[in-house]
Amino acid sequence: MAQAERVIAWLEDARCARFEIDRDLVGGASINAYGVPITDVVTAKARAADAVLFGAVGGPQWDKEPFDNRPEIAILELRKQLGLFANLRPAPVFDALVDASPLKANLVQGLDIMIVREATGGIYFGEPRGIENLVDGSRRGINTEVYTTNEIERVARVAFELARTRSGRVTSVEKSNVMESGLLWRQTVTILGASEYADVKLTHMYADNCAMQLARNPRQFDVILTTNLFGDLLSDLASMLTGSLGMLPSATLGAVTANGHRNALYEPIHGSAPDIAGKNIANPLAEILSLAMLLQFSLSMPDEAEMIRRAVSNALVEGLRTADLSPEGHATVGTREMGDAVLRQLKG
Ligand code: IPM
Ligand code: MG
Repeated sequence: MAQAERVIAWLEDARCARFEIDRDLVGGASINAYGVPITDVVTAKARAADAVLFGAVGGPQWDKEPFDNRPEIAILELRKQLGLFANLRPAPVFDALVDASPLKANLVQGLDIMIVREATGGIYFGEPRGIENLVDGSRRGINTEVYTTNEIERVARVAFELARTRSGRVTSVEKSNVMESGLLWRQTVTILGASEYADVKLTHMYADNCAMQLARNPRQFDVILTTNLFGDLLSDLASMLTGSLGMLPSATLGAVTANGHRNALYEPIHGSAPDIAGKNIANPLAEILSLAMLLQFSLSMPDEAEMIRRAVSNALVEGLRTADLSPEGHATVGTREMGDAVLRQLKG
């Protein structure tokens, strides 16, 4: 986050924009300060803001917190309370990182996938849920996968619209061979596609097959539209194709309201990586690229967004690698040095 803030400061210095920034705590830091993973005050601030730039939550210090007070509640609450139903997770392969991918270069060169993950429904929020005691003394854990046609349609629209700005293809991913909610998902997306997006090429895939296809031939995909849980899994998988989980930004968008406002949150898809926290070795690029998405989707600044993406790409061309991007034994740079390189490129 510190490196992303340096990029914001540069945007101000270069007179691209003036930002009004308010910082606050979520997750474990908020539990330590206020006793809860997110306060109502923070949620209200996030709702009022044009956009939220989010870090990450979680860590072993809070493993003993009650389940309903764990750090992860912060991000789940923000998604739910702000109605952030469309989680956009782009997975582009930077040319300079082709060799960092565990897949062969010829499979990932030029790869550019966009995962659209539903983010306020499905098994993450479905009722009933909980752990109950059974009469025989054993216990039962329950979560429920549930989707309504409205929930499916609004996130599918985001995927179809995005596909129109890209190569015009959507792959809708579920398990309609096993789950009724998946069957409804497939039927609903099919009807919407045929009635409103006939120009977009729509295909369907079972989630397990999608995981296999992502490893076998990822370039077959353009936009992947999927549920909350499958999107969580498949986006981690897709991130590794690009070289590192440390590279992937995301945007989570709400509906556009009558006055044109749209709640939005931007965050790296990686977690808090507690094992490397505070050591100046984390890769800052996913956070910086999240800022680029913020400029693009919330502030109507596509040129500045592109400038940042180019600066990141050029910093990688310079040969700098944080540890996550570097094969064992190769020289690495720290978080701040990677930030320096991005700023150098922006200034250059
Ligand atoms: C993600 C994360 C979150 C999720 C966790 C931190 C709750 O894994 O954004 O992918 O499961 O959605
Ligand atoms: Mg995840």
